[in-house]
Amino acid sequence: MAAAETVLRTKLAVLISGEGSNLQAILDACASGTLPAEVCVVISNRAGAHGLRRAAAAQVPIHALLATSGTAREDYDATLRILIERHAPELILLAGFMRVLSDEFVRHFRGRLLNIHPALLPKYRGLHTHRRALAAGEHEHGCSVHFVTEELDGGPVIAQAKVPVKPDDSETSLAARVREREHALYPLVVRWLAEGRIKLDGSRILFDGQPMAGPRVFGVNEDIA
Ligand code: GAR
Repeated sequence: MAAAETVLRTKLAVLISGEGSNLQAILDACASGTLPAEVCVVISNRAGAHGLRRAAAAQVPIHALLATSGTAREDYDATLRILIERHAPELILLAGFMRVLSDEFVRHFRGRLLNIHPALLPKYRGLHTHRRALAAGEHEHGCSVHFVTEELDGGPVIAQAKVPVKPDDSETSLAARVREREHALYPLVVRWLAEGRIKLDGSRILFDGQPMAGPRVFGVNEDIA
């Protein structure tokens, strides 16, 4: 009789606010086996987030944690932390989670908290990245996956994927092109963490034990793999 195979899967908590297409890419990568991980909880700060339905369809526990107008950021984040820890994830993924997190929360999960941002950081931190890239006449744009630190969209960047900006692009068409790259980039980077290949060491990133000179950048015509 063949010995029972034990597959160790990294537990992921995913935080969302809306559509959840990046969450779906992570769920799909877990289901297909390309990502040796499982999503153990999905938490949204918006009750109607479509991503909650995606998670429920995948039989993942969901929570909507809403902030009322009087809720202090620290109180919200303390509740969020308790909720996350109840599910004991190894990694916490921000996937379109549109809330700024308190320094205390970010410090607590340092090295285990990742974000995907729709720009080639350090360019275009914050909101409306596609609009700003178009207005600046960029020829290239893209997305970044980074460790979250106290500095908003300023943590060490692990990997980026570029897209071309086309002359007739609108904010919508450019966002869609970037989103498609996000769906390949985020699962790959999470896989590197799940496999123990990437570690945050102070403010440096170690890849297979060696300090990275900069993010791994996937060019406009390069497959993300
Ligand atoms: C993604 O494009 C992600 O990069 C962005 O929100 C979108 C969420 O889409 N995140 C941020 O802007 C964070 N500052 P999704 O809900 O379909 O995954």
